[in-house]
Amino acid sequence: MENKDEIPSGIAVGLVPEVAARAAKKVKESIGIPVAVKITPELALFHMLKAIPLYKKAGVSAFTANHSFLSVAPPDIYNGGKTSFPHMETTALFMTQGPWHRFATYRNVAMLGKYFKDADVMACAGLTIPEHCIEVMMFGAKAVQLSSGIFLNGVSFPGKVLDFMKTYMQQQGYSRVSDFTGLGQKYLVEMEECQQEFKPQVGRLIASIDREKCVGLSKCKICLDNWCYATYEEDGKPMVDARLCSSCNLCVIRCPHEARSLQYID
Ligand SMILES: Cc1cc2nc3c(=O)[nH]c(=O)nc-3n(C[C@H](O)[C@H](O)[C@H](O)COP(=O)(O)O)c2cc1C
Ligand code: SF4
Ligand code: SF4
Repeated sequence: MENKDEIPSGIAVGLVPEVAARAAKKVKESIGIPVAVKITPELALFHMLKAIPLYKKAGVSAFTANHSFLSVAPPDIYNGGKTSFPHMETTALFMTQGPWHRFATYRNVAMLGKYFKDADVMACAGLTIPEHCIEVMMFGAKAVQLSSGIFLNGVSFPGKVLDFMKTYMQQQGYSRVSDFTGLGQKYLVEMEECQQEFKPQVGRLIASIDREKCVGLSKCKICLDNWCYATYEEDGKPMVDARLCSSCNLCVIRCPHEARSLQYID
């Protein structure tokens, strides 16, 4: 980088992968042991794709994905927008942690698993229930770091995750952790490939209603809550106009009686 003033510092180093990769290379050369980089979720998807070859070239062999977003705590809307931190007159544009980081963690763990297969990845950020830990491992994480999960659930949380994992593995028939690590990777494809799978379904995959399970519109109004153009009422029952159904699956998710499903029609 030409201008020294442009070189970021602290957590912002990850925003300029050229600098982060060069620093990692120097550290590796100096201490001669494998180097792991903790990456930022702030780097957008396409910038992350460009960063991966730089880290490869620098000899980085492991990652923690991710650190925290640089964000800000909410204002107190009942106190003129003052900071909601107790005893503080001001608030900083600073880091936040916690559950809302989770999908950025999935993204970067999945991306590293796909585009940097040799790297070891430790998942971090937003993992607050045991299932989250299995999910990131299915995307290829070999280890999990718990931070907010411990604040929210107490210090017994890591033990609970391990207990859950043992039961889960017994139920699913996995004898080793490596039996399920990375299994979800093979379902991750580029958007174009996914669209190729989806296109033939449009107009053929239509919501259907199981009349045995549906309790009827006199008892349940969810279907006609004005959010689906395809659903209409006939004789007190919800009906689906197949020509208007866009296969969006929302009604399947929202029906509290599992009466809805998507079915192929010819
Ligand atoms: C009290 C506290 C101290 C932290 N100290 C560090 C630190 O020294 N180095 C670091 O890389 N991350 C540090 N972090 C960030 C966490 O490692 C983690 O990246 C972040 O909390 C996001 O994960 P979470 O959503 O599970 O909390 C700290 C977080 C908290 C809450
Ligand atoms: S939401 Fe489900 S149970 Fe309720 S009316 Fe619709 S299909 Fe029937
Ligand atoms: S919510 Fe979506 S899937 Fe269900 S009937 Fe409406 S358009 Fe079809």
